[in-house]
Amino acid sequence: MQFHWYEDPAALAGHAADRIAALLHRKPDAAIALPTGQTPLMLYRELAQRHRTGALSLAAAHLFNLDEYLGLPGRHPMSYAAFLRDNLIDLVDADPARVHLLDGASADPAAACAAHDRAVEAAGGLDLAILGLGVNGHIAFNEPGCSWQTRGHVVDLAEATLARHREQTGRGDLPKRGLTMGVATLREARSVLLLASGSGKRAAMAALLAGRGDPDWPVTSMLTHPDLLVLAEERLRRPLSPADGLRAAAG
Ligand code: GLP
Repeated sequence: MQFHWYEDPAALAGHAADRIAALLHRKPDAAIALPTGQTPLMLYRELAQRHRTGALSLAAAHLFNLDEYLGLPGRHPMSYAAFLRDNLIDLVDADPARVHLLDGASADPAAACAAHDRAVEAAGGLDLAILGLGVNGHIAFNEPGCSWQTRGHVVDLAEATLARHREQTGRGDLPKRGLTMGVATLREARSVLLLASGSGKRAAMAALLAGRGDPDWPVTSMLTHPDLLVLAEERLRRPLSPADGLRAAAG
């Protein structure tokens, strides 16, 4: 496990893009799981920019989303599928036949999760899982207390996650359940790139830095991964204040 700390979010995104470019250079048809949220936006801009200059191609890559809101069809503007299309997939040369987006509006969401898992297997397993970090330590939509043995499944979102989504979007009508890749699938990825930036994440980072697997902080399930790289904002390294502790307890 390696940690790299950044004062400058652009440098963090640049390093993440370098890792992805190196992987694609070595293995153009790599299978990559992609996060949503504020954190990867700069990375996606950087990848799109490198594609425009001819430095990067995703044409042979298999792209997967990590998670989705239950009940939102891919065409819904708040869906994670739309987010990924708008911010990355439609801006690069991704092959639609190799883009795998969880169907949040499926009549059988458990089957949609299983189909997503099968697509990962058919691609030879994930070469790279790019993860963001939830304020409560979630990865994808694997919430505190979840099993670490799971594959794709449907989840009830934690109150801290719902509050964060309300705060970020200004919308109170977002689904309270989601579809997600499971921790077991993520741990089987050959490499994991965890991106940690944004406010409210010091408690989750402190749990990771404590170096112990803790079911209350799903991100710590990655601690034993043989190839985990954490790219994080410097401010998340600062010790927790009592106020952070209270926030973590409340979350
Ligand atoms: C959401 C997503 C996660 C994401 C996390 C962090 O809940 N389900 O996959 O990593 O939030 O989001 P942000 O980067 O906006 O802080």
